[in-house]
Amino acid sequence: MKKYNRNDLCWCGSGKKYKKCHIEFDNKLSEYEEQGYDILPMNVIKTAEQIEGIKKSGKLTSEILKMVEARIKAGITTEEINTWVSEYTLKNGATAAPLNFNGFPKSVCTSLNDVICHGIPDGTVLKDGDIINVDVTTVLEGYYSDASRMFIIGNASEDAKKLVQAAKEALRIGIEAVKPFGDIRAIGVAIQSYCDKLGYSIVKDLGGHGVGIDFHEEPHVDHFKREGMGELILPGMVFTVEPMINAGDYHCDTLDDEWTVVTRDGSLSAQWEHTILVTETGVEIIV
Ligand code: MF3
Ligand code: CO
Ligand code: CO
Repeated sequence: MKKYNRNDLCWCGSGKKYKKCHIEFDNKLSEYEEQGYDILPMNVIKTAEQIEGIKKSGKLTSEILKMVEARIKAGITTEEINTWVSEYTLKNGATAAPLNFNGFPKSVCTSLNDVICHGIPDGTVLKDGDIINVDVTTVLEGYYSDASRMFIIGNASEDAKKLVQAAKEALRIGIEAVKPFGDIRAIGVAIQSYCDKLGYSIVKDLGGHGVGIDFHEEPHVDHFKREGMGELILPGMVFTVEPMINAGDYHCDTLDDEWTVVTRDGSLSAQWEHTILVTETGVEIIV
């Protein structure tokens, strides 16, 4: 960590002298660092103004997912979902973060059955028994919010329904493991112990991420168990938890379109995602 002098202006932007502001907080962090935690740069802590902006963006993302929920059914194409999301987003003065992000060609990700994530909307028609993840990231007044959920189309198999429910529960359990001044790796530990019991696997190649000022920020969030200590969770952090759970093996492949991530063994995959805010006492789900 960078050291400040007592009479310097505090790094937090309060305009106060360091000795009257974050000096004690930083001393506390040094103790955590000695215990073995990784301490991230302090810009992972969002200001009140930024949090307000991210929450406004999150409200719109939530509305978009509800709008999709009301319309999605067998017979529509994933391209239609893209049109709904794009039109709703623009009508509300926002932009869809996926569009043109590193060359992604659409405004939303639609990931069907064995597609883990980053599915590209196209002419594929939804049919009875499908399971699909719709992942919405909205930029409103410069602030990003990112959330996704599963939809079950018509009557799905018991196996598919169980997986969808388990992925939702994995998200809940992961978020429950988030504690201010706790270890970011606790999330993966908790999700892994849940999934192991069910015989499901957790995708390792992709994870959650800080979000708010940009699409993907620090910290990176693993959803599986990693040994050792990770980053220290701090109040004011905003990040996603978004476990991708496979019915079969955890391995994944990326298709030739350079985006669509599928299970290597062709098994079903499910994912739910929230953007969360760490508070002094716990966690708030932004969207
Ligand atoms: N929304 C995804 C996430 O949860 C990222 C999608 S990137 C895109 O991080 F380019 F495919 F949109
Ligand atoms: Co995300
Ligand atoms: Co997302």
